[in-house]
Amino acid sequence: MSLEELQETYATAGQSQVFTFYDSLDESSQKLLVSQLATIDPARVSRIAETVLSQAPESDPSEITPLPESATASVLTAPPSQIEEWEKIGTSLIAQNSVAVVLLAGGQGTRLGSSAPKGCFDIGLPSHKSLFELQAERIVSLQNLVQNRTGKTEVIIPWYIMTSGPTRAPTETFFKEHSYFGLDPSNIKFFEQGVLPCIDNSGKILLEGKDKVAVAPDGNGGIYRALVQEDVLLDFAKRGIKHVHAYCVDNCLVRMADPVFLGFAESRGVLVATKSVPKRHPKENVGLIVAKDGHPAVIEYSEISDEMAHRTVVDSESGKKVLAFRAANIVNHYYSVEYLDTIPTWSENYLPYHIARKKIPCVDLETGESISPSKPNGIKMEQFIFDCFPQLDFAQFGNLEVRREDEFSPLKNKAGTVGEDDADTSRADLLKQGKRWVVAAGATVSDDVAGVEVPPLISYVSNLLFHEGTVSSVRLGYERSS
Ligand code: UTP
Repeated sequence: MSLEELQETYATAGQSQVFTFYDSLDESSQKLLVSQLATIDPARVSRIAETVLSQAPESDPSEITPLPESATASVLTAPPSQIEEWEKIGTSLIAQNSVAVVLLAGGQGTRLGSSAPKGCFDIGLPSHKSLFELQAERIVSLQNLVQNRTGKTEVIIPWYIMTSGPTRAPTETFFKEHSYFGLDPSNIKFFEQGVLPCIDNSGKILLEGKDKVAVAPDGNGGIYRALVQEDVLLDFAKRGIKHVHAYCVDNCLVRMADPVFLGFAESRGVLVATKSVPKRHPKENVGLIVAKDGHPAVIEYSEISDEMAHRTVVDSESGKKVLAFRAANIVNHYYSVEYLDTIPTWSENYLPYHIARKKIPCVDLETGESISPSKPNGIKMEQFIFDCFPQLDFAQFGNLEVRREDEFSPLKNKAGTVGEDDADTSRADLLKQGKRWVVAAGATVSDDVAGVEVPPLISYVSNLLFHEGTVSSVRLGYERSS
């Protein structure tokens, strides 16, 4: 496209301000700007901006009810024989090499405040393993377990890692520097989610510099578009992948490709399944998985009334009183590839964009000066990964409740700031789990040991799946309670 044509496209979309400084730039800066502008569809940006900015403030008349019992199960109350059955089914899916894991690692981790991608973060374990290393070891461990259990010779769980403009290069470099943590690089595919320009409050694209548009990743819902555009779905087809587990990079306890979860989804014959943990208390600030007008949905904790938040029901399995709305969302999703193959029909038109008002460094169009705002001055537009759920019905969707202490401890905040969901809580939760595991495996751990680091290569999960004969032959890291 010629310069004139490009300028015309931006003018038609009402975004010609991006050329404000063009004439004053030297040749290389002009080239830089033009090459970036050529990758953006300004008409699409204006269309999305118009939609998000014209959204009326919430007065949602939808009927919100707890998930129907028929669509849910819980490892907290299911009989052990049921859990074993799910695990067996999941194990056989993995043995058929039909399972892949997809990692959401495109976020910028602004609250954590680390310049490196979150997956590189050292949460301070005795081994100083990064989140990426823990996850890589879990894949190796599970592949070995399934091989040993089924006698299958080459079990592969390919790992698809979604990065974004800001996280791609440092993520790939980190993996290379660590020799892919023992995994075969041909079974790891990095792919990149899209970015969208940041806009001001009237929908105009912001310039980060005179020769650069301010952009941000398009949210974790960008996964769907990226799976298509980056040929990940094609790769699934080539490899015969039928089942996918998607999860967030910042959960040090994540059970990737958990056979129990896969078996649950497969035995229910659903297209999509989620894992949830029980809410800690009625007013915990977490997203909730619910039924909204009869379809699965994720809502903010603030979208239900005080009465609903405190409402209790008697659990049919345990006979105990539990919160009716207790399914806290931990972004652990199962997808059948059959469902993912339908993405092109809905990712752009069905999935809404949301606005996040942020402090976005930009250039003042009048003065040409750089602005580092102290309060939000612009908008990032994002899709959410769970916004596709409402197009499903409850015959196509299931939720498995799992134990928080075993499966969920997110790393969101800088240690010493908020006091929760930080490196200290992540480390403590992982070490406490390790202590429970070695005790369950027959070890005696003295009371002054706060936790034990059990490398994922030794155990994928709990004593149930402990690799036989390895416990006594390794050094386990531990942390004293005082
Ligand atoms: P969060 O929404 O917690 O964002 O991401 P974040 O980037 O980790 O942290 P903050 O909000 O900037 O402090 C939840 C998961 O979704 C991924 C993240 O990498 C994380 O695994 N994510 C988020 C993406 O993959 N892409 C995005 O555009 C946003």
